[in-house]
Amino acid sequence: MRISVTVHRDLAVSRIDDRLYSAFIEHMGRAIYSGIYEPGHPQADANGFRQDVMRFVRELKIPAIRYPGGNFVSAYNWEDGIGPKESRPVRLDLAWRSKETNQVGINEFAIWAKDAGIDMMLAVNLGTRGLADARNFVEYVNHPGGTYWSDLRREHGVSEPYDVGMWCLGNEMDGPWQTGHKEAKEYGRLADETAKALRILAPKADLIVCGSSNDQMPTYPAWEREVLEECYDNVDYISLHKYFGNSSRDTLNYFAKVEETGRYIQAIAGTIDYVKAKKRSKKDVYICFDEWNVWYHNREEDSKRWRTWDWPEAPHLLEEDYNFEDALFVACLLNEFIRRSDRVRIACIAQLVNVIAPIRAERGGPAWRQTIYWPYQLASLHGRGQALRVGVDGPTYDSLVADDVSYLDVSAVHDDKEDVVTLFVVNRHLTESAELDIHLGGFGDVRLVDHRVMAGHDLRATNGPDKPDAITPQPGSGVGVEDGRVRGSLAALSYHVVRVA
Ligand code: AHR
Repeated sequence: MRISVTVHRDLAVSRIDDRLYSAFIEHMGRAIYSGIYEPGHPQADANGFRQDVMRFVRELKIPAIRYPGGNFVSAYNWEDGIGPKESRPVRLDLAWRSKETNQVGINEFAIWAKDAGIDMMLAVNLGTRGLADARNFVEYVNHPGGTYWSDLRREHGVSEPYDVGMWCLGNEMDGPWQTGHKEAKEYGRLADETAKALRILAPKADLIVCGSSNDQMPTYPAWEREVLEECYDNVDYISLHKYFGNSSRDTLNYFAKVEETGRYIQAIAGTIDYVKAKKRSKKDVYICFDEWNVWYHNREEDSKRWRTWDWPEAPHLLEEDYNFEDALFVACLLNEFIRRSDRVRIACIAQLVNVIAPIRAERGGPAWRQTIYWPYQLASLHGRGQALRVGVDGPTYDSLVADDVSYLDVSAVHDDKEDVVTLFVVNRHLTESAELDIHLGGFGDVRLVDHRVMAGHDLRATNGPDKPDAITPQPGSGVGVEDGRVRGSLAALSYHVVRVA
């Protein structure tokens, strides 16, 4: 199939916020315990953090990480995780029917995040708790000293405040499964009052209010309208979550879920605009897509297991084995975030280690990078700068969730510091290669800097501890640049990162 693409230097969507490539990690399963933290592991440092996992984390150049949950946060007492480790209580985690030992709390996590070069984005518990505890947590974390909570932090060996600049006002409060679930108006009021208090303590912080848990929730999208009507003036972001799957093994319909996500983003952007207009406000609220990923391989089994098990400690949970098809899907989804970076400023892959994660680590054993690690890494490394508009002219298909879905999925980013344009391209066609002709307007006489490709694998192929590098990006061939045009033949079901300057 022949496809032509047009990109022009002067036609930008938006400057991409680096935080589009953020991540999320929760106290659940083996994400923290035996994921990032495993004292006694041959690769653990003096603090108990696994350095094999740390190396893979660092290579992602993650700007920010959301912590400590997720559903977990809605019944979490943050004070359980401070002070001498031997005095910390073991608690029942209501979200995942597990035992929480509290051996990692805010101060340990801060050490890990600093070492990884990642900013913390912290969530407060608005399920079982409220404004008072949120305010104490912020005081402990961000206040320099001379008060009860800030001096307690100093006693715990942390003299300087962390100055955390991103705070999530609860998690998925629209979900009936959430401990302390609320109605929209009720939550909107609580979020507003909490935001007002947090704003006094942390005037420059970004405050993130909960939107829908996904776009199939019965309350979506009225939830966003009702919540924002209560708190629009005091929050900066509204969070969206969405997980994806292909249980029916229908590749093209799976890939088309990216278009459905575009509609989701558009609908929430419209809702934000509606409330902004209603309030006659000049202030903007942006989207924080703070949980996204593929989650279906073991989902049903897992959900049966954890609902009946006997409160295990750091159990195997949601340890999805991602395949090549998932990597192609994640590449397309990241393209969508880049194309919508005018409204989506922050996005977090959910999660980072072991639990629905690009990195896996066996207890006492090796760590490895899953297939989805690679498109996430390539977007994080090269997807910074100006997102450019992309015009695609080529064949399309109709799917269950959208019509006219282009077989070619493309995003383009101009790194204006280095003056490099990166094209992220997925040929979603099952059998046909794409004869591609990209016109790059306004960039003059460019040359090929680099071409990476992921192609030629069985859609169900995975990486694993015994084959950690079975699926990785390889140097590409067959793409040339001449007279401001990028031309080449892209195999069916392939992912390409083409960089020109
Ligand atoms: O990431 C796993 C879970 O998915 C999170 O705890 C929750 O927020 C979402 O439902």
